[in-house]
Amino acid sequence: MPYHYEWPGVSMKGPWDLAPHTAAKHKIYGKYLDAWFPILIQRYGEVTYAEGFSGCGIYSHGEEGSPIIALSRLLRRRREFSQLQRARFLLVEKERHNAHLLAGELGKILNVGAPVFDFDDGVVEVRLRCGECQHELPKLLNESKVWGKPILAIFDTFGGGVPAQLLANIATNKSSEVIYTVLPQHFARFHSDHARGDAIFGDTAWRDVAQHEPYKKREHIAREFETTMRTAGFNHVLRFNLGTSRGDQLNLLYGTCSAKGVEKFKDALWNADPVQGAGFQDPRDPWQQMLPMHHEPDLAPLERLLHGLLLNSPNRSQTVEQLREFTKLHTIYKASHVTRCLTKLEKDKLIQTPTGALRLGTTTITARPPKPEQLSMLG
Ligand SMILES: C[S@@+](CC[C@H](N)C(=O)[O-])C[C@H]1O[C@@H](n2cnc3c(N)ncnc32)[C@H](O)[C@@H]1O
Repeated sequence: MPYHYEWPGVSMKGPWDLAPHTAAKHKIYGKYLDAWFPILIQRYGEVTYAEGFSGCGIYSHGEEGSPIIALSRLLRRRREFSQLQRARFLLVEKERHNAHLLAGELGKILNVGAPVFDFDDGVVEVRLRCGECQHELPKLLNESKVWGKPILAIFDTFGGGVPAQLLANIATNKSSEVIYTVLPQHFARFHSDHARGDAIFGDTAWRDVAQHEPYKKREHIAREFETTMRTAGFNHVLRFNLGTSRGDQLNLLYGTCSAKGVEKFKDALWNADPVQGAGFQDPRDPWQQMLPMHHEPDLAPLERLLHGLLLNSPNRSQTVEQLREFTKLHTIYKASHVTRCLTKLEKDKLIQTPTGALRLGTTTITARPPKPEQLSMLG
């Protein structure tokens, strides 16, 4: 698919008020970068943080935007990273006004005393370009010769998208990952621009949205985004909704080929500082329960998912290890959450175990068919 396609994209002048779901997203990014920088620097010495929809770098009450969160995370710990040879920050922002604000914030954090579009002190390199992500980011990635070394790409598209080909180029690059935030309702509503959608999703299956009932359109598009990430080449894709008590929703997709990456991303999700009024939701939970960000997670959605999985399995059974794998790769929960769920399901007489050894990977867990009064617990 060509990069030359002109598409509208959402473009607005900031700075904006920091919405709770954006604050939650920033907490997760920050926690994840605290793990990503040291692991990748130790292994490769060179890392690239690439952001295609960079914003202004600042929100209306002085809160940091995502590129500043990332750069400050590296600068703060730079002395600890003895193996660091190069850390590149390749940033693109479409709106000139926002790009200038961001350049100002970069200048402040780098102590340059002037707006920064290009900076290089021999180790830390920053390039900011004003233009469309789909044109400018591939150019920056090529010019900076970052292919063959790890890239973490952030695409906060808010109603736009990036070409599936760009995702594929990153997915197939060494130890590279994508965090993609999307608004499926945008494509659920505006589905007549086929050329744009085909470039973003990489094929035409997303167009079936037109045939879906209104309430199913959003989920169809969200699943298409997940399929696009998998087809691009990511072995593992996590997808969840970041929402607010007011009902605003953002879908976050994280794609990686590393099982350790999945583990670290989930740690970031569950250990991020809570944000008042924001939470997240596993899209597979039949109840669509919004979970407040909390260090002690509410496991009810996972209990429902595990019991549902068992009911639909041959002999209504799976081993504990299979349930852990499912949890690790297909839900927003961690494998370590499984034992507590099984203990609760056993107490509620929804499962039975021949040995009662819930911690043993080889133990077979069998679902009891739910009694009518238990059906409401399962959704
Ligand atoms: C929600 S803001 C970004 C927020 C930022 N990532 C953060 O979390 O602090 C989205 C930005 O993308 C910009 N934008 C919209 N379409 C774009 C495109 N095609 N290429 C690059 N930037 C774009 C908008 O001008 C806006 O500043």
